[in-house]
Amino acid sequence: MSLNSTDNNFMKIAVDLAKKGAGKVSPNPLVGALIVKDGSIIGKGFHTKFGGNHAEVNAIGNNSVIDSTMYVTLEPCNHHGKTPPCTERIITEKIQRVIVGSIDPNPRMQGKGIEYLKKHDIDVSVGILNSETDELIRFYAYWKNTGYPFVTVKLAVSGDGFIAGTDGQSKWISCPESRTEVHQMRAEYDAVLIGTNTLLLDNPALTVRHVTGRNPNRIVIDRRGRAKSTMRVFADNADRIFYFSMIRRKDIPTRVTQILLNENEFNLSLILKILGENEQQSILMEGGAKLATSLIEKNLCNEIILYQAQKDFCNGISFNESLIPKYGFQIFDRSQSGIDKKITYRRDYV
Ligand SMILES: NC(=O)c1ccc[n+]([C@@H]2O[C@H](COP(=O)([O-])OP(=O)(O)OC[C@H]3O[C@@H](n4cnc5c(N)ncnc54)[C@H](OP(=O)(O)O)[C@@H]3O)[C@@H](O)[C@H]2O)c1
Repeated sequence: MSLNSTDNNFMKIAVDLAKKGAGKVSPNPLVGALIVKDGSIIGKGFHTKFGGNHAEVNAIGNNSVIDSTMYVTLEPCNHHGKTPPCTERIITEKIQRVIVGSIDPNPRMQGKGIEYLKKHDIDVSVGILNSETDELIRFYAYWKNTGYPFVTVKLAVSGDGFIAGTDGQSKWISCPESRTEVHQMRAEYDAVLIGTNTLLLDNPALTVRHVTGRNPNRIVIDRRGRAKSTMRVFADNADRIFYFSMIRRKDIPTRVTQILLNENEFNLSLILKILGENEQQSILMEGGAKLATSLIEKNLCNEIILYQAQKDFCNGISFNESLIPKYGFQIFDRSQSGIDKKITYRRDYV
């Protein structure tokens, strides 16, 4: 059956539903589902938490869904995981049509759910609002395909390109609206990463305070073991804290996961691989310039977000913005965040 603008509108609702799971479902993907019968919505659902019901099951609920159409942002699962296969439920409930946004990049899936539904005479269409449904699963897809976390480098820069003043202080470069946006990102990414100098100069808490949401996991890269054990990143208010160093620290709280690497092993590629193995799917890098530069130069960064403030610093710690085009990043989005300009750059990746 051909698709039309009504199908687009229904899928858009499913996309918006999926977004409600942000920050709660990792390492699963964000998924939304909608059930429509005779032109009316009879069920809505999204994946609400890791290990919980899938979006399709939440949308079905206790509704009578015989001969209905399901709009689902991601191919329904076809395997027993933490929950039974959604394909079986769709077949048992006698749903007539299933409209899918994205194919599941999980090697166990990759179209198998769609094939299974078709084999059971369900009318399946794939690819509607594909750019929006792919966007929902960009962290999950990158991690499933590569084993590495999706890394966003976020920096606030002064009008003249500095990320901190001469005293090393970077507080209050960006405006309150930008800081609130960053707290929202913290609530949605699995983890926040910082470099040693930022740790020592700023002693950041890296928690979510300006919006409602859970604190992200924290990752500290401190090769020479210079962090003080009392620093705020080690506070007991995040699920997981990863500390990468060449030096074992007896004074750091035991709940911090210390990962010791020797001099030959101590590189960002191995560090990110280990984080991927620990199911960290998305990482927000929040400082500073040296760590950001290393990630970009080693092709370990997927996205760069710059908040460009109005004020000039004239001197201080700078970030070399010419790296952005040099390493293949292009402008993906430009917007205004309060009085700051926000520019998002992306590069092609698998
Ligand atoms: N405006 C903003 O958005 C923003 C955000 C955060 C921070 N800041 C400011 O940035 C300043 C700090 O930035 P920074 O550029 O001086 O330092 P940084 O990036 O915070 O930390 C640099 C350190 O990180 C480690 N590192 C970097 N690349 C590495 C790699 N490839 N492998 C292993 N370790 C690596 C190294 O530690 P070792 O020397 O121990 O090896 C390096 O000295 C502070 O003033 C802070 O206030 C600004």
